[in-house]
Amino acid sequence: MLVSAKEMLTKAKAGHYAVGQFNINNLEWTKAVLTTAEELKSPVILGVSEGAGKYMCGFKTVADMVKAMIESLGITVPVALHLDHGTYEGCLKCIEAGFSSIMFDGSHYPIEENVAKTTELIKITREKGMSIEAEVGSIGGEEDGVIGMGECADPDECKMIADLGVTMLAAGIGNIHGKYPENWPGLSFETLDAIRQKTGAMPLVLHGGTGIPADMIKKAISLGVSKINVNTECQISFAEATRKYIEEGKDLVGKGFDPRKLLAPGTEAIKATVKEKMELFGSVGKA
Ligand code: 13P
Repeated sequence: MLVSAKEMLTKAKAGHYAVGQFNINNLEWTKAVLTTAEELKSPVILGVSEGAGKYMCGFKTVADMVKAMIESLGITVPVALHLDHGTYEGCLKCIEAGFSSIMFDGSHYPIEENVAKTTELIKITREKGMSIEAEVGSIGGEEDGVIGMGECADPDECKMIADLGVTMLAAGIGNIHGKYPENWPGLSFETLDAIRQKTGAMPLVLHGGTGIPADMIKKAISLGVSKINVNTECQISFAEATRKYIEEGKDLVGKGFDPRKLLAPGTEAIKATVKEKMELFGSVGKA
């Protein structure tokens, strides 16, 4: 069922667990995430960056593929199709293409401009029954060529954006996209707690879910994080399993070069990573 992320995140916040957002890149990725969510009876959010959308031939191709797959695989758990780190124009394109959720990343704008653009998009998403995520304080690391410095968000600015009526709020608390460096100081729970106190019932989003230790994830959830984004970890799992298949020469045996065989270990590896995260986030059985 393709739905907005609102209800699943409201339930997650009340139930003290988090819903995973897993970024998708192609058919195998989408199938792996959807089937795992169904097997575990977990709600799920499929994240699509603007780069991944372009790679998959545009947002309409993605939306149509996801809707068709939900139907043909008999997926009954709630699924949100969500634009990840969208530009204003990208958000409009996803609304048009049939996504059920968007993220407008106005974190690099002055706060007044972030407020103005977020307000306009809230109006449109409300009319369409879609959910919208906003961001305050850029997330560290590199994603699709955008490099953030990993700053901690200002809790007052978070309140300002939350009060506009977004569905969920991403706030920088020292998290970074991609692998964490050896000398990473960890998440700033002090910042997270201050943001939680200012934003009340607002479901908070933790980006950069790859490589955050389990105890930090659990603490973040206890402090109001209801959505956790994972991208790089599935990419690494896929690459490692594919490398192993080829290094073991399995593509050279019989019809081992058949793409359906060649891509199968990577797809299974994505499923295993998604399962591990859903168990850690506590969303299993919550659909
Ligand atoms: P990772 O690639 O670090 O898992 O982060 C994903 C993310 O936050 C997508 O917005």
